[in-house]
Amino acid sequence: MPRCLMIYYSQSGTTQKVAEHICKGLKSTGYQVDLCNLETEKAPDTTQYDLLGIGSPVYFFNPVSDIKRYINRLPQLNGMPAFVFGAYGTDYGKAPEKLAQLLATKGAKNAGSCYCRNANFIIGYIKAGEVLGLDHIKPEELNKAETFGSAIGNIFA
Ligand SMILES: Cc1cc2nc3c(=O)[nH]c(=O)nc-3n(C[C@H](O)[C@H](O)[C@H](O)COP(=O)(O)O)c2cc1C
Repeated sequence: MPRCLMIYYSQSGTTQKVAEHICKGLKSTGYQVDLCNLETEKAPDTTQYDLLGIGSPVYFFNPVSDIKRYINRLPQLNGMPAFVFGAYGTDYGKAPEKLAQLLATKGAKNAGSCYCRNANFIIGYIKAGEVLGLDHIKPEELNKAETFGSAIGNIFA
């Protein structure tokens, strides 16, 4: 059975929801998946896995520093396929590419990205009831994550 490790950081829980839905999709294709919240769990050794997923919310058009630090400390990944995922509000800028580029410096093979939209806000203009970081993620965004998981599971079967 192929194994996937999904490492993520999630300040207010939406990146975690995206992780759980990608995980569901991957499992439907026969993957065994380990989810690891970097804040509360020790990340397992990546060499035990066939596929790596790294998730971060978008903060100021960037991945969060905890995730960047985690990748910087990784050993070389020697062509291991790795995908990136996360949650954002209005504009993720180049955050997905930045995460993928960082993984490429470790020798990961780019396996795609899945970013799901959360609160509908514009930076500097917060509408009433739509506050930074609150959970407004819609079911269709989470369905997109699940579909991404099953697609990637079939590609890297
Ligand atoms: C300090 C801060 C900065 C943010 N910057 C951005 C941004 O640049 N672009 C964007 O689309 N969303 C931005 N957001 C919104 C978050 O990406 C969004 O709420 C995300 O769903 C949070 O994920 P989490 O629930 O996993 O922490 C920002 C939120 C916070 C709190």
